[in-house]
Amino acid sequence: MAYNLLEGKKGIIFGALNEQSIAWKVALKAYEEGAQFVLTNTPVALRMGELDELGKACNAPIIPADATSFEDLENLIIKSMELLGGKIDFVLHSIGMSPNVRKGLSYDNLNYSYFEKTLDISAISLHKILQVCRKHDAINEWGSVVALSYVAAQRTLYGYNDMADAKALLESIARSFGYIYGREKRIRVNTISQSPTLTTAGSGIRGFDNLVDFSERTSPLGNATAAECADYCITLFSDLTRKVTMQNLFHDGGFSSMGMSYRAMTQYNKSFDCESAEEMPTEW
Ligand SMILES: NC(=O)c1ccc[n+]([C@@H]2O[C@H](COP(=O)([O-])OP(=O)(O)OC[C@H]3O[C@@H](n4cnc5c(N)ncnc54)[C@H](O)[C@@H]3O)[C@@H](O)[C@H]2O)c1
Repeated sequence: MAYNLLEGKKGIIFGALNEQSIAWKVALKAYEEGAQFVLTNTPVALRMGELDELGKACNAPIIPADATSFEDLENLIIKSMELLGGKIDFVLHSIGMSPNVRKGLSYDNLNYSYFEKTLDISAISLHKILQVCRKHDAINEWGSVVALSYVAAQRTLYGYNDMADAKALLESIARSFGYIYGREKRIRVNTISQSPTLTTAGSGIRGFDNLVDFSERTSPLGNATAAECADYCITLFSDLTRKVTMQNLFHDGGFSSMGMSYRAMTQYNKSFDCESAEEMPTEW
């Protein structure tokens, strides 16, 4: 059901690669809620061709940009304002990539030039986007910028590797820039810390299926899907959350506040056979 929460709002959505992408779901929802926006991704991602389909479905122009390149970002912001006919109201940063994860290098054996790339692509790109937007005064008052994070910024989860450091930096940039942009222009900057989600970026993480299963058993509400994450993003772009800024907002079914759940415990209790138990206790 649509509520017209983004009627008249304009934005830029970074990071839709394919139908599984969180940004893809956000684009569909934003369109449904009445927004107009530009879609962007790297030239390599655009060559894969799937983004054209989304562009058609949302009536959205596509502008290539490598989010680590200041020049690409300037071109993107200026052209977006031209195409959308004015300043924007929201930005989604849904970007993440670690060459160390891709190459299977473990955290105690990092390649430092890859590490710098991880930080540049997955975290510093948010700073660059905000800095370019501010330089061109591209975001309207009460605008909203959202970046996607993960609980590995606060807790150590096996396999997440240098992406954990990138997420910690990303969340810090959201706070630091959120102060400046809030004070000057009443623009909100937040991160959403999302459950593990089956996407191209997610499935690159070692042991990802087990992580999904562990989170599902631990979270009282279960893992949040990409479509549910899109719903949450829409509320943050809307006028209903005008005083929410500089926050890392967990969207994880309660995972981040849990220690051990009954469902997880039964998995590790050698004397308890969850499958053949006749009665499950009510308090999971
Ligand atoms: N999937 C998960 O489990 C999960 C959980 C929490 C947070 N997140 C975060 O959500 C965001 C979106 O990831 P996703 O899971 O939808 O996967 P995805 O692979 O669909 O999206 C990642 C996107 O980053 C883009 N990208 C990579 N390098 C770029 C660059 N230099 N410039 C611009 N774009 C670039 C890719 O082209 C891709 O579109 C990421 O920040 C990710 O870390 C994902």
